Amino acid sequence: MSDEQKWNARYRQSGELPAPANVLLENAHLLPESGRSLDLACGLGANARYLSGLGLESHAWDLSAIAIDRIRNETPGVLVQARDVTAQPPEPSTFDVIVVAHFLDRDLCAAISAALQPGGLLFYQTFSREAVNAIGPGNPAFRLAPNELLRLFGDLRLVVYREEGRIGNLSKGYRDLVHYVGMKL
Ligand SMILES: C[S@@+](CC[C@H](N)C(=O)[O-])C[C@H]1O[C@@H](n2cnc3c(N)ncnc32)[C@H](O)[C@@H]1O
Repeated sequence: MSDEQKWNARYRQSGELPAPANVLLENAHLLPESGRSLDLACGLGANARYLSGLGLESHAWDLSAIAIDRIRNETPGVLVQARDVTAQPPEPSTFDVIVVAHFLDRDLCAAISAALQPGGLLFYQTFSREAVNAIGPGNPAFRLAPNELLRLFGDLRLVVYREEGRIGNLSKGYRDLVHYVGMKL
């Protein structure tokens, strides 16, 4: 089964729209008032819908035509594309805001960074290998090593970083996920 078939099957079954990513909600004060945003590998497009509601020109791309159709039907203001971002990454200097949540393709990071306009912001949130709970992908290749996003986006100015790993009281804090916001210089 291809990745596209796998995700289409999952979205055929799952009706629930997730909340926007915390990295976006908690740092929404950093967003520009206008501009072009991209929710890359958007799934059901929670981040794109949120950004559209804030008045940005909101684009949402995902491999799954099922997920994309649902966004198109439910939130016509979001500009959707069924698009394999590995085969067709975003073009250079085309977005003011890019959000990537729960998706990791290391080979795409240079293109994501290049797709930001100067001053543009990347909001990234995905799973850490140093997890506390059994959520997210089982394959460590799809999870971040410590500090890895800092290395993958070393060309951006660091704005926000949160990665708690397994340090301290594991029943508290924000675990399992890494939060990153960076700005294109
Ligand atoms: C775990 S889901 C995350 C969805 C969404 N970002 C969220 O946080 O709710 C991963 C998404 O990546 C998409 N995806 C996987 N490979 C992709 C590719 N090469 N191009 C575009 N989307 C891809 C899948 O279709 C799926 O919707």
